[in-house]
Amino acid sequence: MSATQARTPPPPSHRSLDETPLGATLVALRGVDKTFANGTTALSGLALDIRENEFVSLLGPSGCGKSTALRILAGLIPPSRGEVAWAGGGRAEDHRGEIGFVFQEPTLMPWASVADNVYLPLRLRGVSRRDAGDAIAASLALVGLSKFAEAYPRELSGGMKMRVSIARALSLRPRILLMDEPFAALDEITRFKLNDDLLRLQHEFACTVVFVTHSVYESVYLSTRIVVMAARPGRIVAEIPIGAPTPRTETFRTTPLYGALCREASAALHGAMDADPAGGSAHL
Ligand SMILES: Nc1ncnc2c1ncn2[C@@H]1O[C@H](COP(=O)(O)OP(=O)(O)O)[C@@H](O)[C@H]1O
Ligand SMILES: [Mg+2]
Repeated sequence: MSATQARTPPPPSHRSLDETPLGATLVALRGVDKTFANGTTALSGLALDIRENEFVSLLGPSGCGKSTALRILAGLIPPSRGEVAWAGGGRAEDHRGEIGFVFQEPTLMPWASVADNVYLPLRLRGVSRRDAGDAIAASLALVGLSKFAEAYPRELSGGMKMRVSIARALSLRPRILLMDEPFAALDEITRFKLNDDLLRLQHEFACTVVFVTHSVYESVYLSTRIVVMAARPGRIVAEIPIGAPTPRTETFRTTPLYGALCREASAALHGAMDADPAGGSAHL
């Protein structure tokens, strides 16, 4: 057996919902294909169930369709084939208020205060500034920025800007938080701190998270399940349950279990890159 074959990940295992103690399915991608107008097939046959209170990471090389999958889940773009099925039915548009989306860039309005940036989704829903006061304060408290409500984005560090972006996504009290490489641009210490804060707030807030990353270490630390994707076309090639107890702390990073899971996820990621006819590693 060649080294390439040895690293090839197992076929996707879509375990039945009854096998895990997690909550019911909140939203699922069923048979999702996405081909863009220029002919690029970004996703093919994607099937993914997201259960309540899960922390699912989509792990894969650049170009494997992670962002596309997240945007389809959020209803920001439609699939070419297949569907996004929500518990209780309804189209993506009907569930907008239940979804918080965090992009890689904080995308804050530079002319608005921190509080007004967090207010934006509420304003778009017609909530008055006065009525939104408590929700804004609660969201800022969740991310540890209560003292910075009146500050402007230019006064904040990169990590603080990302916290504001997360507070803004939380302002509508979403049931599901979709995060697209939110910490990729941050230094490692800030990233580790935000990892811990994210786990704490997911616990306090009891929401479901789908988190896009190409960091093996981050995905193992945060997730209850890692979904590994390969490119051309974007598809799921492995799923790795992360059975480590929660809540997790920095000591988890020093355990043999963490090391073993990182090796497993890393092997699956390399297998995904080997499976890419154009050589996914070239995109890292
Ligand atoms: N709007 C678009 N039009 C055409 N091609 C796109 C568009 N968005 C993404 N793609 C292509 O689809 C593939 C998947 O992209 P993306 O979902 O951004 O991957 P990832 O987030 O994993 O890096 C890539 O080949 C990318 O170039
Ligand atoms: Mg992306």
